This record gives sequence, C-alpha cells and structure tokens, in this order.
Amino acid sequence: MEKKFLIVIFGGLGDLARTKIYPVLYSLYKKKELANCSKIISTGRRPNVGREEFIQILKDSIGGDDPRFFSLFDFVRLDLEKEDYKNLKEILLKFLEEEFIFYLATPPFTFESIIANLGDFLKEFPNERKIVIEKPFGYDLESAKRLNNTIKKHFREEEIYRIDHFLGKETVQNIFGLRFSNIIFEGIWNRNFIDHIQISALENIGVEGRIGYYDRVGALRDMIQNHLIQILTLIAMEPPCCIDEKAIRDEKVKVLKSIREIRYEEVPLYAVRGQYEGYLKDEKLPKSYTETYAAVKLYIENLRWDGVPFYLRTGKKLRKKETYAVIVFRKIPGLFSKLLDCIPQENIIGFKIAPENKIILNFQLRPLGGSLLSCPIPTTMEWSGPNLEAYETLFLDIIVGDHTLFIREDEVEKSWEIVQPIIDFWKDYQEIPIYSEGSLGPKEAEDLIRRDGRIWKYL
Ligand SMILES: NC(=O)c1ccc[n+]([C@@H]2O[C@H](COP(=O)([O-])OP(=O)(O)OC[C@H]3O[C@@H](n4cnc5c(N)ncnc54)[C@H](OP(=O)(O)O)[C@@H]3O)[C@@H](O)[C@H]2O)c1
Repeated sequence: MEKKFLIVIFGGLGDLARTKIYPVLYSLYKKKELANCSKIISTGRRPNVGREEFIQILKDSIGGDDPRFFSLFDFVRLDLEKEDYKNLKEILLKFLEEEFIFYLATPPFTFESIIANLGDFLKEFPNERKIVIEKPFGYDLESAKRLNNTIKKHFREEEIYRIDHFLGKETVQNIFGLRFSNIIFEGIWNRNFIDHIQISALENIGVEGRIGYYDRVGALRDMIQNHLIQILTLIAMEPPCCIDEKAIRDEKVKVLKSIREIRYEEVPLYAVRGQYEGYLKDEKLPKSYTETYAAVKLYIENLRWDGVPFYLRTGKKLRKKETYAVIVFRKIPGLFSKLLDCIPQENIIGFKIAPENKIILNFQLRPLGGSLLSCPIPTTMEWSGPNLEAYETLFLDIIVGDHTLFIREDEVEKSWEIVQPIIDFWKDYQEIPIYSEGSLGPKEAEDLIRRDGRIWKYL
C-alpha cells in the first residue's frame, strides 16, 4: 500500500493558499491523487476565523461547495509564538504513521522561526517528513546561507523542497524536452550557431498590494535571482547522464558555477535598473531606490557558451505582459546578404512561457511566386498547448518525492552569488533611472543591449 500522508499549510489564510494551494489541492483531490491524504491542516493567526469562516474561504477559493473535500481539512490557529504549536502537536499525535508534508506559505521573514519551532517539536515524532519552502529563499547570499543552515539543523536535504514555481510551468519544462529529445537541435545549440539569448519576464501591472514585500526586494531579487536564472540553466545545461534528479540538478549547478563573476566595479557594464515613474505616488512612499525593472548580461565560460551573452530582464508597468526566452542564431553569411536591401533576419527559437505556452521557430522563405533570388521573408512555425497550473505539477512531485523541479541548497546559494555584486553596487549607488508607465523600460536597458549591436526581441 502507498504511504499515507498529512499536509500542514502554514499561512493557510493567505493569498497563495487561497489563489493557488486550495484550488490545486481540489484539482488533485478530484483526480484521486489525494487518496492517501489523511488530513490537511491549515494554520492561520487571525482570531476571528473559526471552522465556518474557514470553510467559506475554501468555498471561495475553489469556486464551489464540496463537503467531502472540506472534511479533509482542519483549521488551527497558530501564531509564531512557541506555545501555539501545542495545538498543532495535539492533532499530529493522532497521525503517527503518516508522512508529514509541511508547506510554508507565509511571508519569508517567518521561515526561520517556523522551521526552528517545527524542528524542535518534531524531535518527538517518528514520522517521515517533508518541508516545502516558498520563494524568496533569502534576501541575499548571506541570508540564504543562514536559512539553509537553519533548515539543515532540522531537516535533511532530501526532505527539503525549495519552490521556484517557474520550473513547474509547461514551457519551461519543454526547454528540457525540446533540447534533449530532438537530435536536430543539439548540433546547433552552442556558440558556433547561437549569437545570444534573451530571457524576459515583462509585466504590465505594478506591485498589486504587495508593497511591504516588494519595496524591500525589488526586481532583481524577485525575478532574476530565481526564476530567470533557472530558465537560463535549462537553456544552457549539458545533457545529464540519466533522467535522475541528482544528475539533472548537478548539470544545472555546473552552469551556475561557469557563469563569469561580475566584479563590483564592472556592474554598470552588466546590469541596469529602473523605477517606473508613478511608483512612489502609487505606493505612497516618500522615497525609494527599489528597482521595478532590472536587466542583466551574463556570460557562461565553458566550451559550449563562451562569448555568447545571456540577457535577462524583468519589469513592472511595461507595455505588455509577456514571459519568454529567445534563442537568437547568428546571421547567415553569404548569398542573400549581398543582395541590395536584403538582410535576412536571424533564425529564432522562442519559448513563450506566459500568457501562452508556445514554442516558435522563425525562419526565412522565398516569397511565393518570387524569383529564385528574391529576398526571403520571415516565416513562423508555431506549436502551442494549454498552460497547466505549475503548482499542481509541483504538488504532485512533492507527494511522490521527486526533487527534480526544486532548487537544491548549492543551486540557491550559487544563484545568489551571481547577483550579489549587483545588489552591493546598487545599494551604494542609489541614483535610479526612471521610465514611463506603459513603455518598454528605461533607456539604459536599451543601451545595455544596443552597445553590443543587438536589440530586445518581442515574441
Ligand atoms: N501570493 C502569491 O501569488 C505568491 C506567489 C509566489 C510565491 N509566494 C510566496 O508565498 C508566501 C506566502 O505568500 P502570500 O502572498 O500568501 O502572503 P500573505 O498573504 O502576505 O501571508 C500569508 C499568511 O501568512 C500569515 N502570517 C503573516 N505573518 C505571520 C506571522 N508573523 N505569524 C504567523 N503567520 C503569519 C498570515 O496569516 P493571517 O492571515 O492569519 O494573519 C497570512 O495570511 C510568501 O513567501 C510569498 O513570497 C506567493
């Protein structure tokens, strides 16, 4: 018989729990993936929430009424005060055979304290256990190391699931799928054929009520250190020796270790930031140097990628919402480029991550009915599929114990190391370029890529 398990959600009244976790659990329940789940315990600290109010939250969250699903749940009031864990302990003592899955869906400043408290009281439990930690994992290299150390005191690495929900996204996983299951791409997936790579996460919305979190964090930490660098590793990694979580994560870490260090004094050459014009007014802030836009250029110093820049950028209140990666191939030399007024465009492979799940190949074709030497015109071949919920994929992986799509200790620290000089430099030099809402971002980001004779691509 498969192992029985029990889920504890810390932050069970929060935004993530309502908008993602409960709908995903309901979907898994309907697919009978929770058949071995004995109980789901949600914790929250608001005093006026009892069972009735909590069920109403579940109803709103899943958009319906399903008493059998709701009967899986218990709601426990819990603050971070140590004594509060007593209530939780009493319930858990009734489930000594089950594996425990603890999901930390609380603000990041609570992680260390929850882990330490949990670690203490779990000493009395023989149960197998897993701990799931939301992003952001740390605020900088030092705090990420500290958090890793705290977790390590109480949990083994194979019990830890550090979430980067981008890895659960269909298109992001398709980067791996497309690269390693098609022979036609491997031969050209290197510096001999690829000119550069762009990874963009552009948003047209602002901070949307998360200012307490966002103003401390900014775009570099919020998006680039984790999500965009993770996409980079999937684009750049070598084929793993086998389909095995260790082998795959080892290859990703090798990429991170090969990224050329940006020295403190070089930061302006490799990274730019910006703040959208109405940020202070929108968020009622007297002053802030937090970036709502960041762009970074990275180089990977290995045989495959030497000399190929990876441009990563993200921003808020831009013209359009789009997340994608583009592989831009070198321009074709010879014949057509010698024709007057004919510059064939570069080939591009685009991975559209949001809002759609799409893979695009841009190539050139002779115009219909044109002569043999007519200037070729750009053409597109496209595949698209539904965008499944990333959290559902990840939850299922947690249940079965597959770590492939989760971030390992060394991976998280290495990614912080990459961005740490930029964090330090921006802290010291606080002048921040301003860009207009609805624009393409600050002029400095255009300059960053134009200096190299390139432009930002849009899919
Ligand atoms: N929301 C998203 O879409 C999203 C996406 C990706 C990652 N995340 C990450 O997921 C985590 C949760 O995000 P969220 O948006 O759900 O946050 P949230 O709504 O601000 O907070 C979640 C819950 O944490 C509880 N909480 C806050 N401070 C606490 C404390 N000192 N002691 C005990 N409980 C406390 C609150 O419980 P009460 O309501 O009972 O006060 C709150 O409902 C964060 O780490 C966030 O970065 C969120």
